[in-house]
Amino acid sequence: MNSKIEQLLAEVEKFTADTEQKIEEFRIAMLGKKGALTQLFDDFKTVSVEQKKELGQKLNVLKNKAQDKIKELKDRLGESNKGLVLDVDKTLPGVRNGVGTRHPLSMVKNEIVQIFNRLGYVTAEGPEIEDDWHVFSALNFAPDHPARDMQDTFFINSDSDNPILLRTHTSSVQVRVMEKQQPPIRVVCPGRVFRNEDISARAHCIFHQVEGLYIDENVSFADMKQTLLYFTREMFGENVEIRLRPSYFPFTEPSAEMDVSCTICGGKGCNICKHTGWLEIMGCGMVHPNVLEACNIDSKKYSGFAFGMGVERIACLKYNIPDLRMLLEGDMRFLRQF
Ligand code: PHE
Repeated sequence: MNSKIEQLLAEVEKFTADTEQKIEEFRIAMLGKKGALTQLFDDFKTVSVEQKKELGQKLNVLKNKAQDKIKELKDRLGESNKGLVLDVDKTLPGVRNGVGTRHPLSMVKNEIVQIFNRLGYVTAEGPEIEDDWHVFSALNFAPDHPARDMQDTFFINSDSDNPILLRTHTSSVQVRVMEKQQPPIRVVCPGRVFRNEDISARAHCIFHQVEGLYIDENVSFADMKQTLLYFTREMFGENVEIRLRPSYFPFTEPSAEMDVSCTICGGKGCNICKHTGWLEIMGCGMVHPNVLEACNIDSKKYSGFAFGMGVERIACLKYNIPDLRMLLEGDMRFLRQF
């Protein structure tokens, strides 16, 4: 038995293998159910008491050596496999991360804001969750004005006498500016607004606006007209014309709706302008004295004008987009064109 142990020790010592299969075969031959070592342990039961101590120790050494060898060979195999995984072809071109671009709505919003910034207007922003005062009451909406109605406004909490709601226009930001600052005031207010409207090619319940406000001594309707003409030509080109039509807003008097000559047909008449030659782009007017007074501005001393436009609408006209929902769907095939 002793010589058998010596022989197996030598075998274990010199054994080497470089595949999983060969290592496994070795393990079975040594330590498997019918393996050489297992056999020896069986035989060990029959040896005499005097020999047990010495042979037992030797057997254990052999078993440990065999187990260590298997582990060592497996580890080595693992190491070299790891090397294989890392062994990539470094001469192949890498995978590029695409560079993102601005969303067309952001581009158009920035362009509008920048045109007014060049005229000395500063940008002002305010909360999307507003109260009734800043969205309606301070802007001269009568208590029963239909625009406050559930049909237009998303109310968050209408329990109190100053309900909390999602702003329906960024005129609320103009109120916040007037409350804090005395004239001269020149601000543009870009932002997201919310109205309870059916979604269609021309309308959405969430959209973006840029509104503007200019208040100083002796500001006239003519100032407004010239400012808006300048804006329109910067935005749509030197050859466009503007037209003001009488309109109504509670917070301006007089009020107007501004059209631009159709950017598609140049005013001759086409499908886009419904053969009128004109496209409506914004509301405007002289700030109502009640609004100035509600914000503690002396309406005898100061006057001003305000205007507001939808960014989606301007974007659709500028890029000839037939359906404003395309701007909100996040389809890369569409967005990559800008
Ligand atoms: N606040 C108006 C709207 O959301 C737009 C507007 C602003 C009209 C300022 C006149 C003056 O429709």
